[in-house]
Amino acid sequence: MNVLSTQNLKKYYGNGENLVKALDGVNLDVERGEFAAIVGTSGSGKSTLLHMLGGLDRPTEGKVYVDGKDISDLKDDALCVFRRRKIGFVFQSYNLVPVLNVYENIVLPIELDGNTVDKNYVEQVIVVLGLSDRIHRLPSQLSGGQQQRVAIARALAAKPAILLADEPTGNLDSRTSQDVLGLLKVTGERFGQTIVMITHNEEIAQTADRIIRIEDGRIKSDSGRGGDYHA
Ligand SMILES: Nc1ncnc2c1ncn2[C@@H]1O[C@H](COP(=O)(O)OP(=O)(O)OP(=O)(O)O)[C@@H](O)[C@H]1O
Ligand SMILES: [Mg+2]
Repeated sequence: MNVLSTQNLKKYYGNGENLVKALDGVNLDVERGEFAAIVGTSGSGKSTLLHMLGGLDRPTEGKVYVDGKDISDLKDDALCVFRRRKIGFVFQSYNLVPVLNVYENIVLPIELDGNTVDKNYVEQVIVVLGLSDRIHRLPSQLSGGQQQRVAIARALAAKPAILLADEPTGNLDSRTSQDVLGLLKVTGERFGQTIVMITHNEEIAQTADRIIRIEDGRIKSDSGRGGDYHA
């Protein structure tokens, strides 16, 4: 069963001379439990694709299905709730709430949804991400890599069915990157999560089950599309 699916997905920005075809006809199917890496040069459309998959932005044309449901049909409020229940995001720009401390940031989405925090699990995530002695700090008191780890912890804390991560290890040293990837893999398997991760790092991409290469808003190659696919 495909948990994520796009049909002829297009996202254009601007118009006339300033028209940018950030996505230009993407057809992608991701099965439940898959761990896929999206690779491509800067500006190729990776973040745009991730935002579309998570319903953060609406397509210019085409469809996005999550669990078989066409999310372009959802009204803004419904889309927001749907997103919070199903999807965990790690953004390229962390998006931590500056006035909340590390722990509060991590559990915020769970509380927003009126759910109980699984304290043991959250504690485990915090330990693995090496944030235990920083939980009372504000984001502004953290390094870039630490903020990135908080963003990852926040995404994992709610055990989302789908985890969409934009360069989750972009600011981490290689040792920490490997630890974080290990954590993503383990939690992914334990909770049957589907993970789609953007990375610039070829070594990190190789740890995924599948590598999708994007160029100029189109899929250039896909190692998981019924074997190898090349455009
Ligand atoms: N809000 C926007 N308005 C106009 N153009 C945009 C907007 N967002 C993205 N773009 C353009 O769309 C294209 C794809 O952008 P996107 O952010 O998806 O690239 P990316 O592959 O994530 O790059 P990077 O690796 O640098 O993060 C780029 O040419 C970018 O300039
Ligand atoms: Mg990007």
